[in-house]
Amino acid sequence: MRAAAMIAGGAALVTLGVGVGLSVSKAPVPSRTDAKPFEPPPDTAIPDNEFGKAVKLGREIFTDTRRAVPQFVGNDLSCSNCHLDAGRRPNASPLWAAYGLYPQYRAKNGHVNSFAERLQECFRYSMNGRMPPAGDRTLVALESYATFLARGASIGVMLPGQGFLKLPKAARAPDYERGRAVYAENCAQCHGEDGGGLKVDGKTAIPPLWGGRSFNWGAGMARTPNAAGFIKANMPQDRPGALTSQQAWDVAAYIDGKPRPQDPRYAGSVEATRRQFHEGGQSAYGTTVDGVLLGGDGPPETTGLK
Ligand code: HEC
Ligand code: HEC
Repeated sequence: MRAAAMIAGGAALVTLGVGVGLSVSKAPVPSRTDAKPFEPPPDTAIPDNEFGKAVKLGREIFTDTRRAVPQFVGNDLSCSNCHLDAGRRPNASPLWAAYGLYPQYRAKNGHVNSFAERLQECFRYSMNGRMPPAGDRTLVALESYATFLARGASIGVMLPGQGFLKLPKAARAPDYERGRAVYAENCAQCHGEDGGGLKVDGKTAIPPLWGGRSFNWGAGMARTPNAAGFIKANMPQDRPGALTSQQAWDVAAYIDGKPRPQDPRYAGSVEATRRQFHEGGQSAYGTTVDGVLLGGDGPPETTGLK
């Protein structure tokens, strides 16, 4: 099932023209966006030694996260469901492009973050889980895998293909109702009418987009611009690039207008959490969409964790 659905979208990316409005605080030197992406070494180049063992463990954690480290994962996602091709694919936030950009100041938490801390946050938000403690073998393994993929890449520059596609604003404001139609036609057959994805033999074959088993309100993908860029470049998985930019924005607004696990930074009420973390129009958190107050279900639960 999964293998059948895995269709590379590389070709479609080239023609999209990555937006030049690369976000400000991020990296020192924006690179040319039309240049050929860096090619990470193949898995066959993983050395046969202790370091190589850590690299392999990191790859396993990245691609089968819940099974490999259930103690840190509260949903049904793996890192590679968003960082495609096991963290190799350009414009799907590849690890080889991320590695050399840290330590880096992040407005999200207001201080300079090491690469390890950046990884910890993915567990807290994208995986709706618990952060591995500093120095934990999970972090060391993921860092080793990223270092391996980045071998030979320039450090301290924003490499072509870094991050997700930055989609220029669409002509019309993103719209939930138009997004509903885009979703029904292009996404529901895989991700399900209810956005819950598909499991085969207890394993995630198609990841959930919303609901209790998906990423939480603090995750990068819960921000409409990130989702729109990801979707435009990579979805539908069997026909990447098939949606217009307007359709990608609309379906991103649809997904972002659905309930998902509480923001772990919950500040005592939906209003306070919205004010502190969701102003600026990038997320629908704290607004009522389709009759549901998004984020209105009280403090975070951690029941998904083992
Ligand atoms: C639901 C999709 C999703 C999942 C699952 C996910 N991520 Fe991410 N990740 C993102 C998004 C979106 C961003 C960009 C966030 C932003 O810029 O606000 C990101 C950013 C990152 C970055 C920084 C990239 C850069 O160039 O600075 C790293 C590193 C990373 N993720 C690693 C991981 C790891 C490790 C896991 C699994 C433990 C993971 N991610 C799971 C969506 C995801
Ligand atoms: C052919 C099946 C298929 C179709 C159609 C499809 N997807 Fe996906 N989608 C997948 C698979 C499989 C993954 C995980 C990719 C991986 O692990 O390599 C995924 C991942 C995602 C993710 C990131 C992971 C997550 O759970 O958030 C988003 C967002 C997403 N799809 C949105 C969409 C949208 C929006 C559409 C419709 C425009 C769509 N998909 C159509 C199969 C599909």
